[in-house]
Amino acid sequence: MGSLTVLLQLTLLVSFAILIFQANGQGLKVGFYPYKWPNLEPVIKDVIYKVISEDRTLAPPLQRMHFHDCFIRGCEGSFLLESPTKQAEKDAFPNLTLRGFQILDKVKLAVEKACSGDVSSADIMGPFWEVETGRKDGKVSILNEALTGLIPPSANISTLKKGFADRGLNMKDLVVLSGSHTIGISHCSSFSNRLYNFTGKNDADPTLDSEYAAKLKQKCKPGDQNSIVEMDPGSFKTFDVSYFTLVAKRRGLFESDAALLNDGETKAYLKFQALNKGPTFFKDFGESMVKMGRIGVITGEGGEIRKVCTKVN
Ligand code: HEM
Repeated sequence: MGSLTVLLQLTLLVSFAILIFQANGQGLKVGFYPYKWPNLEPVIKDVIYKVISEDRTLAPPLQRMHFHDCFIRGCEGSFLLESPTKQAEKDAFPNLTLRGFQILDKVKLAVEKACSGDVSSADIMGPFWEVETGRKDGKVSILNEALTGLIPPSANISTLKKGFADRGLNMKDLVVLSGSHTIGISHCSSFSNRLYNFTGKNDADPTLDSEYAAKLKQKCKPGDQNSIVEMDPGSFKTFDVSYFTLVAKRRGLFESDAALLNDGETKAYLKFQALNKGPTFFKDFGESMVKMGRIGVITGEGGEIRKVCTKVN
């Protein structure tokens, strides 16, 4: 039930977004392909439903991929490119924990079969929220840009706000998109500094709820890089507002989650989502996801439609 719930909820969210964004001035459009390729959306959805019903943990990584793609060089699929010398975005430390590439391979294969040469890799990343399509694929992918440009989980509130503002996103986008951490998993390595030796005195992060810290310590022993935990314990397969409730109780997993309480505006919006228990979350999330999906898109000559997502043509 879990991941299918996620899918249904994301589908709902797209419907909201379709109502809100009919088209925009960048050449991205809702319904860019359907006129020529009416079967495209069902083809993509079929593949994704099939993959996710076989492995229900694979819904969240698509959202994370879209975020990592859009924040570096814009939403143009550059994080998918592979480099023989391991110098592409994909090889940068924050991208090493991305997973679910096999879904995109399967989608690309099906899309090429259905509408050969016409649909970019940047566009196939998420039909459930990515209702505006028409992006071209970029041709450049640089490890160092991802290393320095992706926001680390240790980020404080000023780094978070600046990182989002630099890409045209505001504090509401920051909080609501962080709500994506209501689903999915994290490796211990992404937050274990908060459990052990936070300030060099064998201490835990004092802003982390101590009961939650004790539970995390049972799962992540000192030095453990590889074990994984649910980011939203008990509800990590359900796309809901429990992330906001947890962060408000000082149970956000990353410093970047906890940091949302350190600014009047972000804290107020977070508490609004937590207390209101959701009526605006899907709509707000859909709007912010569409906004994020417009960052640095290429719609003209500067891009291409890759034949294979991992290589420039
Ligand atoms: C605000 C700054 C953000 C930071 C610092 C951050 C950081 C992280 C980290 C460290 C992980 C765990 C990686 C691992 O150890 O496996 C993670 C997971 C995840 N993030 Fe974020 N994230 C941020 C924003 C976002 C946004 C904007 C989205 C999507 C809109 C997103 C979606 C996800 C998802 C779905 C997962 C779970 C992935 C999985 O299950 O494999 N994150 N994030």
